[in-house]
Amino acid sequence: MKHTKILTLLALIIGSSLFIQSCSKDDDNGDQNNTNPEFVADDNTFTDFMTWQLEATNQGPDPALGMAHAGNDSTVTLVYFKDGQDPANGKYPVGTIIVKHSSNPDQSVNEFTAMVKRGNNFAPSGGDWEWFMLNPDGSIATDGDGNPMRGANLMGGMCISCHTQASNKDYVFSK
Ligand code: HEC
Repeated sequence: MKHTKILTLLALIIGSSLFIQSCSKDDDNGDQNNTNPEFVADDNTFTDFMTWQLEATNQGPDPALGMAHAGNDSTVTLVYFKDGQDPANGKYPVGTIIVKHSSNPDQSVNEFTAMVKRGNNFAPSGGDWEWFMLNPDGSIATDGDGNPMRGANLMGGMCISCHTQASNKDYVFSK
């Protein structure tokens, strides 16, 4: 009995580490046969985001946005969806990657944010999305202490608390 449990646990651990490896190797959406798929983004996940499907171009701050995302009257925001991913039955699949670039006309303000559908109960009360701040080249930004700027509650939960306004669209405003 106990033995079986340990074996099951071992199988789970081996299974999930294989899965994570396969994600980082080919950067795809993961193993469709895995019952609990998870997509863990890394520095290569967002490379070339500017070549992805441009789903929205917004000028000026969104009413829901206020001054967030460096928003002011002249701010232009570009929202890219990797592979133009659509929701299925109202939810985005695990591995969905969305990047948003906000800038002002003279490019003196540039902000790169991203959300990734991580899955696997990563953030059950927030649609299992992970939130990111990126560098201009798409690598994950680090804070003053050198920690990567990512997580379910990035910036004290600021991202998710505002995106909750779009919870009926799986926390995504632009599509
Ligand atoms: C005050 C509200 C607010 C906060 C805080 C906020 N967002 Fe957004 N976000 C929006 C709105 C509104 C849009 C869509 C309009 C636009 O693009 O300007 C958006 C769009 C996005 C998009 C494009 C996908 C979509 O939902 O349309 C990403 C990615 C994103 N935000 C990431 C983040 C991250 C990461 C943070 C935290 C660092 C964050 N947001 C904080 C309101 C907010």
